[in-house]
Amino acid sequence: MEESMNRSGLRPPSSTHRRRTGAVLVAALAVTLAGATLPAQGAGSTLQAAAAESGRYYGTAIAANKLSDSTYTTIANREFNMITAENEMKMDATEPSQNQFSYSSGDRIVSWARSNGKRVRGHALAWHSQQPGWMQNMSGTALRNAMLNHVTQVATHYKGQIYAWDVVNEAYADGSSGARRDSNLQRTGNDWIEAAFRAARAADPAAKLCYNDYNTDNWSHAKTQGVYTMVRDFKARGVPIDCVGFQAHFNSGNPVPSNYDVTLRNFAALGVDVQITELDIEGSGSSQAQQYAGVHQACLSVARCTGVTVWGVRDTDSWRASGTPLLFDGSGNKKAAYTSTLNALNAGGTTTPDPTPNPTTPQPSPTTTTPPVTGTGSCTATYSEGQKWGDRFNGVVTIRANSAITSWTSTVTVSQAQRITSTWSGTPSWDSSGKVMTMRPAGNGTLAAGQTTSFGFTVLHGGDWTWPRVTCSAS
Ligand code: G3I
Repeated sequence: MEESMNRSGLRPPSSTHRRRTGAVLVAALAVTLAGATLPAQGAGSTLQAAAAESGRYYGTAIAANKLSDSTYTTIANREFNMITAENEMKMDATEPSQNQFSYSSGDRIVSWARSNGKRVRGHALAWHSQQPGWMQNMSGTALRNAMLNHVTQVATHYKGQIYAWDVVNEAYADGSSGARRDSNLQRTGNDWIEAAFRAARAADPAAKLCYNDYNTDNWSHAKTQGVYTMVRDFKARGVPIDCVGFQAHFNSGNPVPSNYDVTLRNFAALGVDVQITELDIEGSGSSQAQQYAGVHQACLSVARCTGVTVWGVRDTDSWRASGTPLLFDGSGNKKAAYTSTLNALNAGGTTTPDPTPNPTTPQPSPTTTTPPVTGTGSCTATYSEGQKWGDRFNGVVTIRANSAITSWTSTVTVSQAQRITSTWSGTPSWDSSGKVMTMRPAGNGTLAAGQTTSFGFTVLHGGDWTWPRVTCSAS
């Protein structure tokens, strides 16, 4: 067994060890989460039964044109209790001509789901992709109004039948910017996302409203931080958002990150549900099986991770069929990934709130930004929770260079009851009170614009779970 370093290069301070599996560190997550994991009540023999043991749903994407395939529907009916229309509720499918709505394929899926006692996730009301041709050529106020009309009409048609809507899909850019993706919708104004959420809430007040995206799984990635900042802002300003969907399309170039549970937990601490909405992992055999187990263990460790949806039934049904990314092979046989997923679900998870700060209690902002200084760089420090034990917790601070910097200094201030007992991946010094730690780089502090680095520490909490306050300054 090899001692693990997470993707930020951090080594846990305790004796915790993780087994490395290819590029992914997932196999021993259940061990590292042992303090927060509750055993399941019993063993479920299907995915939906096993997930239900801890109060979660288990879903899949369904294609309307496969509902006549009995192998497909037999598996779907047996294993899943949450259904997403893979393509049939998208903008191009539901409004092929402006103001002429077409619901027949979406309705077939809803009807099949509901007649078999299943709930439905709606996917997706507003998206830069899969827009009907007439919309692709629109801009400005006309496009904004057309988008809001679409959201209102489609959410009204399915009112009362949808558990959660992906209101806005994939609005953030890939790469290191952490910014919105350029699109015709984005060019109507930065408030287009919140306008869509408000229209959806007005149309179907009972549906949970989600923001859904991909490549938002790794906590230290700029895109993850961009979405997190938006959701935090929405919650602070009362924009009606209830959940965040993590698509979770993984392959060797985009493996399951070792900090996946941190990402899910930090979003949940904003006061939203988190859901894994389009899971698939390219690969085969035990490697794929271990990665599937790790994703489920991460979800199960977060009380507000309310369910998982895999993006299709059999490998041959997948949008990435050649990568054999799903739980059943083309003949409908259960794969090793199915067994590891079932076992992970049956191992149980937390159903009681994690000892995170109460979202109704004002918390110090986990992010502070130094003002840009002429001639030098600036940085952002973001606090994220790590593991927790009865008497202590780990914290991680991610330093992001907003422009090129040659060094950084970060302060971590803990409360009177708290005491930092150990640190890693930085050079600490202390003020006389012992409550303010100044952390400097362990080595070279140079960071290019958009680059991040992290350090960590352990806090003896003394009964106070308040997040430490963090700042960053750069030169
Ligand atoms: O149904 C037509 C068929 O009649 C035609 O002969 C054929 C030829 O091109 O196309 C078929 O439609 C395809 C459709 O899937 C149904 O198979 C479309 O071309 C194809 O573009 C479409 O791909 C879908 C893709 O979204 C489009 O962006 C995939 O099925 C669907 O799995 C995928 O789902 C997305 C999520 O919505 C958002 N997250 C990423 C995920 C994967 O890309």
